[in-house]
Order: sequence, then structure tokens, then C-alpha cells
Amino acid sequence: MEKIRLDKFLSSQLNISRTDAKKLIKSKTVTVNGTGVSKAEFSVNTAYDKVCVGSKEVSYKKYIYIMLNKPKGVVSASASETDVTVVDLVSESLKRSGLFPAGRLDKDTTGFVLITDDGEFAHNILSPSHHIEKEYEVTLEREVSGDEISAFSEGINLGDILLKPASLDFLQFNKDREDKPQYSIVITEGRYHQIKRMFASTGNKVLELNRIRMGALRLDKSLDLGECRELSDEEVERIIQRKI
Ligand code: URA
Repeated sequence: MEKIRLDKFLSSQLNISRTDAKKLIKSKTVTVNGTGVSKAEFSVNTAYDKVCVGSKEVSYKKYIYIMLNKPKGVVSASASETDVTVVDLVSESLKRSGLFPAGRLDKDTTGFVLITDDGEFAHNILSPSHHIEKEYEVTLEREVSGDEISAFSEGINLGDILLKPASLDFLQFNKDREDKPQYSIVITEGRYHQIKRMFASTGNKVLELNRIRMGALRLDKSLDLGECRELSDEEVERIIQRKI
């Protein structure tokens, strides 16, 4: 059970400033359990109280979890002076303050980015000890050899770090990329430029990189590049599950 001030409740759930929330309350359109409330400091029980603005109920969600299909050219940050960020792409109806990407994709990488305002959840899924699987489709300059597949499955040594084992499977020749070979790669860490550095260490080159899975949750195929949607509670759970 959590109690919060009415102005805080409204500003967090409607993505408006505290000042605008106070103005809304003063305008006498806000009711709690059917009774008009005009005090910003009124205490709302988030589990039981029904808050309405006019006839519209404002439901309460402590945190929000959003799946975005990131296009190229967009940076994995909350704000940038020079670039469009993943948070800029969140649709207005899902926007609220405090959103950030839980984990980064490079500017030229596409695919699944999780955006949330839940710091503890993000910490848990990013923590190396949790070993959350991340699956990517990677298009390479050349086919990989059996020796490279074995090296990946044993753990590539990047000089300063010994990486955890990664699995690599051939998918197809990528027609959109001059029939260059495309593989599925699954890693359990999230180090800076990790996949690009892994292939560079064996003399190969990443041409395209697209994240398609986090934990047991796959990128929704109905999301075009740049589109996002809210995750259900059950989907959020699947991110921290190991089984697919
Ligand atoms: N590895 C990379 O090299 N880049 C990404 O964006 C993600 C994983």
C-alpha cells in the first residue's frame, strides 16, 4: 500500500508538471472516490482510491515498461543536444518523466530497446550476475569458420577482458546486404561495442546488428522501426526468465 499526494499522483500519471497538477486540482474537476478534492496535499492511497479528472478515471501505475524497435541514427539516451534519443520516440500517451533506456544499443544498431522509469528493474537486468540473454541478428563481412564458432563458445579474450561464452548460428545470406552471411548470436553480457569487438578480434566485421530478444521476450514483429508499445506484467516477467 502506498500513499502519495494528489498533485504528485496527477503529475506522474498524466505526465504534467506539479504546477499544472495543482492548477487542475484548483479548477475543481478532480474527484477522489466520487468526492471533489481541491487540496494538492490530499493523500491518495494508490491501491484503493479512484481518482478522476472530470468523468475520466486516472489509473495508477508506479512504473512503466516500454518495448521500442530502435531505428539506426537514434542514440540510447534520455536526452541529447545533437541527436534524436530513444526516449524522444516514446509515444505521447506513454511518456512520463524519468524514462531511460535499460541498456544501450549503438547508434547504428537496430532493434529491441527496453525503456522504463524503474531503476531497480534496470539494475537487475543489466547486472552481469543475472546473465540475461540478449539475442542479435548480425550480418558479417565474411562467413565464420568452425574455429571461430568454437572460440566464441569458449569465450573470446578481448585482451583486457575474457568474455563469457556466446553461441553463434548461421541464419541466411542477407539479400538486403549483397548476400553477406547473417548469423544469430546470443550473449549474456552487455559490454561496450561487445559484438563488434568480438568479431573484430577474429578479423571479421559487423555490417548490420539487430537485437531481437532480451531474456525470454522477443521483439514484437508488428512494431515497425521507430514504434513502441507498453509491456504487460507477464512480458516484463519474461525478460528476467532464462527459458524461452
Ligand atoms: N554489441 C555491439 O557491438 N553493439 C551493440 O549495439 C550491441 C552489442
